[in-house]
Amino acid sequence: MMSKNEDTVAINEVVLRDGFQNEPSFVPTEEKIRLSDRLSGTGVRRIEVSSFVSPKAIPNLRDAADVFRGIERTPGVLYTALVPNVRGAERALECAVDEVNLVMSIGERHNLANMRMTCDQSLAQFREIMNVVAGSGIFINGTIATAFGCPFEGRQPVERVLWAIDTYRDLGIEGITIADTIGMANPRQVGELTATILRHHADLPLTLHLHNTRDMGLANALAAYDAGMRSFDSALGGIGGCPYAPGATGNVCTEDLVHMFHNCGIDTGVNLPALLELSGELTATLGHGVPGYIVKAGTSDRVYA
Ligand code: COA
Ligand code: ZN
Repeated sequence: MMSKNEDTVAINEVVLRDGFQNEPSFVPTEEKIRLSDRLSGTGVRRIEVSSFVSPKAIPNLRDAADVFRGIERTPGVLYTALVPNVRGAERALECAVDEVNLVMSIGERHNLANMRMTCDQSLAQFREIMNVVAGSGIFINGTIATAFGCPFEGRQPVERVLWAIDTYRDLGIEGITIADTIGMANPRQVGELTATILRHHADLPLTLHLHNTRDMGLANALAAYDAGMRSFDSALGGIGGCPYAPGATGNVCTEDLVHMFHNCGIDTGVNLPALLELSGELTATLGHGVPGYIVKAGTSDRVYA
């Protein structure tokens, strides 16, 4: 989580949560732990390790507690978990997470499909969660999902995003992620919304969560950077997606995002060769290829004999 005045971009790795939640088969707990431990040494700022949601809703992440208990914690890396309700927050506390990531879609109908709650019901849960985590020292992040568009309601007004940010901050939520849950955003929209948010909330630790559903992920990331965004969610290999959003596909790909930033002279503090090695191994773990480009093409300084 960084302010817009810092030059280094923070990379938040979400493959273990957003990535694996949408896989056709369960990724074994030991594989998840191994991947988290290896990602911890790559220079990513934050790792979303899992989610404490209903195992019926997301069977692939039913082992969240075991994963949290199995991983090594590298100092300087934040280990976070997605939490939808009070029950999830209690489970996260038991696992001594560094951060909880509360999620609500501002598209009311997507929130109903995904969380089985109205926005009011989600906010009521958040209010109770604030009491549950009070005094624990856990950082509280809040994600505003479908911020750029809802699969059932279309484009969301900027005013609704600003309303959600004000509401989250009034509740005591410390950091905010705006999410393009199904990749509906375009670079102009992302640049303008980022600039608008930072104009109203210059002090806010703000993160952008992009999906590459329509191949605008990297363009959106650069537009956001130019508007002052300095923290990005991304998934190794570019896998992921919300199982309750029709048409959802993978997150913006971590190694492609890091490669782009480094090519543009923007520091991320991330070791790209190490990421590419992990991405190569991910294909074997999953038993299928991944959407990322750089793991296939090599970096842009590659020359052929
Ligand atoms: N962790 C584990 N189990 C939970 C839970 C949590 N945070 N919250 C609820 N449950 C369990 C309940 O105990 C109950 O179990 P039972 O059927 O064995 O009695 C069951 O889930 C249903 O509980 P209920 O409170 O009625 O929830 P619901 O069916 O209205 O679902 C959510 C609400 C939020 C729990 C569910 O929609 C969910 O987990 N959604 C997350 C979706 C997601 O992660 N999407 C992708 C990321 S954006
Ligand atoms: Zn996502």
